[in-house]
Amino acid sequence: MTYLLGIDVGTGGTRALILDESGVVIASATADHAPFASPRTGWAEQDPDDWWRACRQAVPRALQDAGLQPSDIAAIGLSGQMHGATLLDGAGAVVRPALIWCDQRTQAECDELTTRIGADQLIAWTSNPALTGFTLPKLLWVRRTEPDAWARVRHVLLPKDYIRYKLTGGLATDVADASGTLLFDVARRRWSSEMLAATDLGASLLPEAMEGPQVTGSLTAAGAEAVGLVAGIPVVAGGGDQAAGAVGMGIVRAGAVSATIGTSGVVFAATDRPALDPKGRVHTFCHAVPGRWHVMGVTQAAGLSLRWFRDRFGSGPDDGRDPYERLTDEAMAAPAGADGVLWAPYLMGERTPHLDADARAALVGLAASHTRGHVIRAILEGVAFSLQDSFTILREMQVPVEGIRLGGGGARSPLWRQVQADVYGQAVQTVAAEEGAAYGAGLLAGVGAGVWPDVDTACQRVVRVTSEVEPGEAQPVLARQYEAYRVLYPALKQVRDALEVKR
Ligand code: XUL
Repeated sequence: MTYLLGIDVGTGGTRALILDESGVVIASATADHAPFASPRTGWAEQDPDDWWRACRQAVPRALQDAGLQPSDIAAIGLSGQMHGATLLDGAGAVVRPALIWCDQRTQAECDELTTRIGADQLIAWTSNPALTGFTLPKLLWVRRTEPDAWARVRHVLLPKDYIRYKLTGGLATDVADASGTLLFDVARRRWSSEMLAATDLGASLLPEAMEGPQVTGSLTAAGAEAVGLVAGIPVVAGGGDQAAGAVGMGIVRAGAVSATIGTSGVVFAATDRPALDPKGRVHTFCHAVPGRWHVMGVTQAAGLSLRWFRDRFGSGPDDGRDPYERLTDEAMAAPAGADGVLWAPYLMGERTPHLDADARAALVGLAASHTRGHVIRAILEGVAFSLQDSFTILREMQVPVEGIRLGGGGARSPLWRQVQADVYGQAVQTVAAEEGAAYGAGLLAGVGAGVWPDVDTACQRVVRVTSEVEPGEAQPVLARQYEAYRVLYPALKQVRDALEVKR
């Protein structure tokens, strides 16, 4: 039997997952990271050596739980939080804490890039607009604000690629993760010499960018000893967490789409071309599947909306059941459409479709007769409406949506599944191994090791659909409700402007 290891360097922790050649998960273990530091409002930093510490804990635990020998692992795949700027000096030491994906300090750099290069030119060169979360604006911030630190920087890596460096001694990344840097020519799947020239950055700063299943190197003796494995195990490029997660759910061919409600919500569509939104409201990135791309719309506060309600207003009397189950039970008592109550989920600003870091959330349409159940149902529906905004953009871009698979907490709740089918107006499916990015990274490792000839075959062999929900009788009610939801953002913007509220 061949065993594969997927490692996902997330925000909250690093997860190691071992699967076998039939796709069955044998064991997994997660070691938490220290919470990210936020020395100023909107800043988010992590210590790359804390990711490495977590990796050194998670891998041996997973191996032990699996009851395997270190030499049983045939290949390793890496996945991780995207966009983070990990800065190393010439000796490979970390220069300063990494600025991670949710760091928002770089609006001035983004404005400068957009003015100087031009919004259209940026999209032509990189397929994306300048967004505060992306890597390049972070590099420009460090160069402008911390010249002494910048003078020592010789290598820029994405978070999972720092782990690769520690494991293999090699500097490499994958094309999906590279796509989120704003330094990558997404259409041609290579670093953008135009962007490097326009920002006066040297190509030697960047690692080699390879396709997801390609082998980038193998475990060194030191790397192997640190994680309790044996030297020589090949490590494939892998993918940024969204692309790797999509591989794990079988979202690999044009027409396949996932809607994942975790803390944030992501609509991810695999494409066979770099489909562009001229307004830059969705990200256009390379897929972890060679020769394919994807587009992705992001709702900042999806599952977070429900968690916010739970944390602020409670989840009702404790009867031993999961708090989210109790909340969705309450929502079930309210009618579809929540009797006209609407939730605009902009608790953390919004990416798709508004690209507005200062957007604010709102609960609209309350009457004295309404209960907690109406509010919770409105939240479930509002989050689905917000993901439907991404589907609306995909339609405008003529990106095909032939089947929708659900992931995250939104896939586990029967009510949220039905709400999503009704709002998207299409059948939605769930899959068996809803295991996230570490699973997808493990599949990419299997392709690299020759267990499967390509990613499509890997997904056909191992990804299994477990349920399908069709749109029901609430569909027309929710279609009308969605039209009302679309009026909310412009109205809320007027309210915010009148109050001059800033985040
Ligand atoms: C993708 C994104 C997140 C991070 C953190 O654009 O910002 O998925 O990768 O998980």
